[in-house]
Amino acid sequence: MKPNHSPEPDQDAIRPHAYDGIQEYDKRLPNWWLYTLYVTIVFWIGYWSYYEWFRIGQSTTQVVSTAMAKIEADRLSTAKLDDASLWKMSQNATFLAAGKAVFETNCVACHFASMRGKTENPIAIGPDLTDTSWIHGGNPTQIYDLIMKGVLTKGMPTWGPVLGAKKIGEVTAYILSKHKEGEPIVVVPSP
Ligand code: HEC
Repeated sequence: MKPNHSPEPDQDAIRPHAYDGIQEYDKRLPNWWLYTLYVTIVFWIGYWSYYEWFRIGQSTTQVVSTAMAKIEADRLSTAKLDDASLWKMSQNATFLAAGKAVFETNCVACHFASMRGKTENPIAIGPDLTDTSWIHGGNPTQIYDLIMKGVLTKGMPTWGPVLGAKKIGEVTAYILSKHKEGEPIVVVPSP
């Protein structure tokens, strides 16, 4: 059967060059070949915008690390709450995302989104939570307990009944993510 996309071989133009006396026909690429090429170009545009330009899709590395963070988060959420487990939570992406959300909903009014409170602007009600001076102690469990109980006389609400243990663990982890384990802690009096 004759292919219908090109004329008989001897009707094709002959290319001007000759190598070792051999000449070639100037053949048109077959349609199936061209359409495959066009389809791959269209696919490439879609693929590249999804993964590289707009970064809608997660890379496999990201998928794996999100999954690992989730597994670690499940393990930590049932772990005993102590300084070590709170520091671990502070390095876990799942906890941090949850803690950031808790902080942004409940704490920014007084401590600001930057967490820097009075350091950012003296009109702030709450103190800086990113520096190394603490009024009530800077160990993870001390921070956790303080958020739980609050300091009503000074204007820090009692969050225990409002947020519950899980969210307080998350927001403590988020505060700790602005700190380093073992950094010097200075205890200062409440202004
Ligand atoms: C209505 C204002 C207000 C809100 C809202 C608030 N805080 Fe406070 N926070 C304060 C004040 C005022 C202090 C200082 C207490 C003192 O002087 O003893 C404080 C202190 C703290 C401390 C102790 C800082 C230290 O140096 O020891 C932590 C931790 C803290 N807040 C976390 C939080 C978290 C987490 C939230 C949100 C769940 C929150 N705060 C919401 C006003 C607020």
